[in-house]
Amino acid sequence: MVQISEVKESGSRESRTAAHTHINGLGLDEYGAAKKVDGGFVGQAEAREACGVIVDLIKYRKMSGKAILLAGGPGTGKTALALAVSQELGPKVPFCPIVGSELFSAEVKKTEALMENFRRAIGLRIKEIKEVYEGEVTELTPEESENPLGGYGKTISHVIVGLKSAKGTKQLRLDPSIYEAIQKERVSVGDVIYIEANTGGIKRVGRSDAYATEFDLEAEEYVPLPKGDVHKKKEIVQDVTLHDLDMANAKPQGGQDVLSMMGQLLKPRKTEITDKLRQEVNKVVSKYISQGIAELVPGVLFIDEVNMLDIECFTYLNRALESKIAPIVILASNRGKTTVRGTDDVKAPHGIPPDLVDRLLIVRTLPYNKEEIQTIIFKRAKIEGLNINEQALDRVATIGSEKSLRYGLQLLTPAGILATTSGRTEILPEDIDECLDLFLDGKRSTKILEQSESYL
Ligand SMILES: Nc1ncnc2c1ncn2[C@@H]1O[C@H](COP(=O)(O)OP(=O)(O)O)[C@@H](O)[C@H]1O
Ligand SMILES: [Mg+2]
Repeated sequence: MVQISEVKESGSRESRTAAHTHINGLGLDEYGAAKKVDGGFVGQAEAREACGVIVDLIKYRKMSGKAILLAGGPGTGKTALALAVSQELGPKVPFCPIVGSELFSAEVKKTEALMENFRRAIGLRIKEIKEVYEGEVTELTPEESENPLGGYGKTISHVIVGLKSAKGTKQLRLDPSIYEAIQKERVSVGDVIYIEANTGGIKRVGRSDAYATEFDLEAEEYVPLPKGDVHKKKEIVQDVTLHDLDMANAKPQGGQDVLSMMGQLLKPRKTEITDKLRQEVNKVVSKYISQGIAELVPGVLFIDEVNMLDIECFTYLNRALESKIAPIVILASNRGKTTVRGTDDVKAPHGIPPDLVDRLLIVRTLPYNKEEIQTIIFKRAKIEGLNINEQALDRVATIGSEKSLRYGLQLLTPAGILATTSGRTEILPEDIDECLDLFLDGKRSTKILEQSESYL
């Protein structure tokens, strides 16, 4: 029996796409032409249209064995485009962004790391009919008792959960382990949840829309009171990645003796995913697929700074692209001709060996003009909840076009803090100027270093 569960990673991966929360698609019209400002995108029309064609090729299954290369300077929207491609492929399509250099660590073999990320980029949508208790939480009361092990504390012996649906109400008396899960999901009275009858798994569906008038939290999703009885059968759709399945089924290293337990304490969360385990997982996955329970959802593996990969990684990539279940691979580079890593000075465009270049559809991204930069910065300011006055926006846009878009974008948050500190709700040009004094851009920083070197 393969364990199915989603692995919640400690946020670091999510924060990689945090700079792109304004992006929600390529922003193309029905003929595949880029609308000037749409999908969170501004300009970069040709690259967006090319990516639109690629999305069509993927949907018509014409991309197997091929990959995409986004080539262009830093801050020209390569990561944003790759994310948008995954969004265009449908909701809950995995997007796995990595940087070439991160494959090289002392702990894991690089091809192993590459394989892991391939599996992070392949989703599996599992549909199951399950027995559940579903409703709006009307009561949430932990019941305490004396600690059976002695001591002065009390422990939770049960938790009483009241659930209300359109057709009835039910009061459940549940195990304390479920109370922990309830706390982890931050369930409170007024939320709609379901509890799986067999496993006790808890899922928070959203906030009951009876509570929709209260203070609006930006990320809150309001849902109607569930139909039918509280206790019922329900089709549950779960999106996991193949890597989630590998992780959920990997056994912690070492045995049960004290020494290896100590080892586990010293090296927390280190689990071993073997090839054999992956094959087991694959077998069960194919079985689910042929039974119609599950469906494969290939996502996007985005490899930035592809010139950092070496010849061994490229060989692996070539092979992996041919495999039956492969994600869409999007490479990105801001390099021109450079040496392929791991070879004796074989020079190639973007440091990619010719046999892989042959498989690539190459899309170029171009630098932005000031007007486009201004619109992008304005969009980011809005998403970050910052109020910026017109002159200040113009100043940031000028800086963005002279130094770099990223530098311009990075000034926003500190400028917002400076404005707040001065008791204002609006960012003024003086906040921008102060930020310029406080934080250097790359060019100025280099210049200062060079000057100070000349004193040595
Ligand atoms: N055409 C665009 N429209 C809107 N936002 C953009 C656009 N291009 C880039 N951005 C935003 O600018 C920032 C830098 O872009 P990014 O995709 O990281 O560039 P690259 O990967 O080419 O270095 C990101 O926050 C990105 O979302
Ligand atoms: Mg990038």
